[in-house]
Amino acid sequence: EKGGHEYFMLKEIEEQPDALANTLRGHFQSGRIVLDEQRMSDQDLREVDKVFVVACGSAYHSGLVAKYAIEHWCRLPVEVELASEFRYRDPVLDRDTLVVAVSQSGETADTLEAVRHAREQKARVLAVCNTNGAQIPRESDAVLYTHAGPEIGVASTKAFLAQIAANYLVGLALAQARGTKYPDEVAREFAELESMSAAVQKVLSTVDQVRELGQRMADSKAVLFLGRHVGYPVALEGALKLKELAYMHAEGFAAGELKHGPIALIEEGLPVVVVMPSPKGRAVLHAKLVSNISEIQARGARTIVIAEEGDETVRPFADELVEVPAVPTLLQPLVSTVPLQVLAAEIARTRGYDVDKPRNLAKSVTVE
Ligand code: M6R
Repeated sequence: EKGGHEYFMLKEIEEQPDALANTLRGHFQSGRIVLDEQRMSDQDLREVDKVFVVACGSAYHSGLVAKYAIEHWCRLPVEVELASEFRYRDPVLDRDTLVVAVSQSGETADTLEAVRHAREQKARVLAVCNTNGAQIPRESDAVLYTHAGPEIGVASTKAFLAQIAANYLVGLALAQARGTKYPDEVAREFAELESMSAAVQKVLSTVDQVRELGQRMADSKAVLFLGRHVGYPVALEGALKLKELAYMHAEGFAAGELKHGPIALIEEGLPVVVVMPSPKGRAVLHAKLVSNISEIQARGARTIVIAEEGDETVRPFADELVEVPAVPTLLQPLVSTVPLQVLAAEIARTRGYDVDKPRNLAKSVTVE
């Protein structure tokens, strides 16, 4: 059942191209995005004037990624909030607010309570869920299923990538209904999203280098992760994977925050994973990150750089360079997360931990 793998998680990492393809399948028909499991009309979507994404853990990170795309495509304000915080605030919601509740299990207590709170405030709630008939979709106005298949490993991998894809479908459906993107642009974005299956497959064919790196990093005390723009939530996700699997102190930072505190943590030999943006996409972001890397390297950090293949500018600053295929900026998280999953799994394996069942954790957190 583990398909020849030692752990489910390793099998699930390899299933990511299929998880993406299955999540997108059938959602583009006759030139339009179709969210068929979603009981929200174009009219409903047109009325939306604000989006909240509420979720926990990795699902929350998928929302942070989607914020960049939805704001860019739809010109709508998007707030992404931890479900456990959202419900104890007094968030400003009304009928024209779309609340997207993202949950692999569909049973996470805090996310469910956030859904209940949002519905009491008359907001429209759309669940993005991987589990048929779970409680969160049952209590939501509409549901968009991720079709990642059952995820057994406690650490989210294929469900996370599928959540990003589903959140992007929501963004494209909103852009289409609101007319903030022309039909041919929506079609192009969808085609690019579909092509990510092959890009992720390509990343998977190069992970041996990451495994070997993980084995060498297994004795580290702590690891920092840095990113900017969509690379920032990827850094958070990479740190979460390392904490939960390898029980290692790991923190993700927005690279622009370095000088506001985190740079004080840098010392000789500290591994710092940097998620680079494409040199072609956002040149300014790229230049800023190169400068961040040179600063931390000068202070003794051991830099592990995830960069687009052929990115020569970053090479001199990378003690270890992991290359991923060139893809459009907003889609980069789908490729750059994969080496971080493999890295965390390999460090945990080398340290002798059960990768599928990390200590103290449950697959779905049904208590608050
Ligand atoms: O089932 P959910 O998507 O609601 O679960 C949310 C988090 O508990 C989950 O993503 C958790 O953070 C993972 N173990 C991370 O790998």
